[in-house]
Amino acid sequence: MNAVDIIIKKRDGKALSTEEIRFFIDGYTRDEIPDYQAAAWAMAVLCKGMTEKETADLTVAMAESGETLDLDGAVHVAVDKHSTGGVGDKTTLIVQPIVTACGLAVAKMSGRGLGFSGGTIDKLESIPGIKLDLTKEEFLQQLKDHKTVLSGQSVDLAPADGKLYALRDVTGTVPAMPLIASSIMSKKIAAGTHLILLDVKVGNGAFMETLDQARTLAELMVSIGKQAGRTVKAELSDMNQPLGSAVGNILEVKEAIAFLKGEPVPHDLYDHCIESSAQLLLMGKIQPTLDECRALAISSVKDGSAFESLRKLIGLQHGDTSYIDHPEKFLLAPVIRTIFSPAKGWVKEVNARKVGETSVLLGAGREKKSDTIDHRVGILVHQKVGEYIEKGAPLFTIHANSEQDFEQAAARLAEACVLSQEKVKPLPQFYGIVE
Ligand code: URA
Repeated sequence: MNAVDIIIKKRDGKALSTEEIRFFIDGYTRDEIPDYQAAAWAMAVLCKGMTEKETADLTVAMAESGETLDLDGAVHVAVDKHSTGGVGDKTTLIVQPIVTACGLAVAKMSGRGLGFSGGTIDKLESIPGIKLDLTKEEFLQQLKDHKTVLSGQSVDLAPADGKLYALRDVTGTVPAMPLIASSIMSKKIAAGTHLILLDVKVGNGAFMETLDQARTLAELMVSIGKQAGRTVKAELSDMNQPLGSAVGNILEVKEAIAFLKGEPVPHDLYDHCIESSAQLLLMGKIQPTLDECRALAISSVKDGSAFESLRKLIGLQHGDTSYIDHPEKFLLAPVIRTIFSPAKGWVKEVNARKVGETSVLLGAGREKKSDTIDHRVGILVHQKVGEYIEKGAPLFTIHANSEQDFEQAAARLAEACVLSQEKVKPLPQFYGIVE
């Protein structure tokens, strides 16, 4: 067996055997198969697809490429939530503290930004001192002692996905359904969580642009999870416009802090986080009905316990909690300026993809694997689809590293917001649940 034959087989649209997939993933994990061959293979998968069996084999191979955790010694039941990737999606930073504050343990394994979509690990690295590469022992101990833990892909857990994820990010191979499904589910299976809520995004700012694609991906992941003995539920949620206002690492952390402090945040972000928290609480049988779970989630924000739970999580992982208490301490980008609407009308589109791509250009994401992120830069989005705005209303506030970056971003964002002279309906937030 060799890597070239496996690439050629997939390039020619043939199904790979369990052994071939295992050989490729193990070889890549051990650095015996180089990045350029893995990139060619990922592109072949993107172009030719995989059967459900190949996707399940790929998931297991990646989950078993490192250690797998057994959480039973640490907690009776632990939940996890994972998004397929979107723009302005800081929901983990909000939902994890809410759910833990409501009495359910959360064992979360997160990723970095991917293409135009942000990642929880990049966002959290805005907080000085924070440690997000936990070992297996550290992950389990923190879960046992504190019922809340969040780690990136440390060397121990699903290392194959860690490598492949970074490679896909810079080789145009992100939006392949088998690669997304196996990437997410391998992490979930390796991390041992019992109950998993998947947030499958659909729209121009998601990797799945149509509802049909999103539903297929959701069904695939739910089925892989079931085969691995996990309870998995997937919500299908809108990603045609950025979620909330902030896009960019520090800006998103600040928006999450504001949410948990009970300060006003855009209603789509609020509703989304409360709904996802309620779904998790229901899965964990914390309350018998979704309405009661929703009420509990809301009260954890109102009484400050969700904010305390964020503080605790950051502190446990060596993050400087003074930034959580005083978010004004976060560094600001050197150039911060707002662009305004040249006309009045109903907002027809705030294109999430264009906003996400512009934030990457500003430096909030990576164009090459070796790129470092500028945590300060990003965009505040001021309008939502369906709103009526006057000429001169603020559209976007750009946080840029230089005047030149600002000008480039402003030109791109001018095209991201489209107005209509006819009334426009707000976008739905959810399109359904797959169980
Ligand atoms: N999130 C992941 O963890 N992996 C993907 O491939 C996409 C989103």
